[in-house]
Amino acid sequence: MRRTFAVSALLIAAATGARAETAATLYSANCAACHRADAAGVAGQYPPLKGRIDKIAVTAEGRRYLADVLLYGMVGQIEANGAAYVGYMPAFNRLSDADIASVLTWISSLGGSKPPPAISAADVTAARAQPLTAAGVAKQRQALEAAHPLP
Ligand code: HEC
Repeated sequence: MRRTFAVSALLIAAATGARAETAATLYSANCAACHRADAAGVAGQYPPLKGRIDKIAVTAEGRRYLADVLLYGMVGQIEANGAAYVGYMPAFNRLSDADIASVLTWISSLGGSKPPPAISAADVTAARAQPLTAAGVAKQRQALEAAHPLP
């Protein structure tokens, strides 16, 4: 009995480790070229994600916005850490809901929030059911910024 418990605890630990590794791999394959390996972004070109995504993901509307950015991309001017970015974020709707949730949750975990807020696959499924344009996502961000000032 005790042995079964120990083995399942080990399996759970291994599965959690595998999930984090998958998310890190997803990030380096799909995001690091622009947002950089450390998710600190490139001044004036690609906004920093580290230390900001956890703060945006605190509210349900914030999590919805993050899912929408990944699914539909974004075009328009935004401000991040007080600096302006006018760029184009590509859509990643070819990734599964679970992969989008896991890469966003992984980025959230790079920030200082304890515990870091998680984005669930269900958050992404709900966002996928209500398609937006990339410009629509920029408008959604403005509305979010008015309701909950973004970092
Ligand atoms: C081709 C470059 C590029 C790639 C690849 C890319 N992004 Fe972006 N991303 C951008 C740009 C540029 C913006 C800002 C868009 C704007 O100014 O409207 C952005 C914005 C974002 C935002 C919104 C930040 C905010 O402050 O609201 C998130 C979240 C994000 N990206 C996450 C990701 C993730 C996760 C990946 C990988 C799955 C990724 N990006 C891949 C260029 C990229």
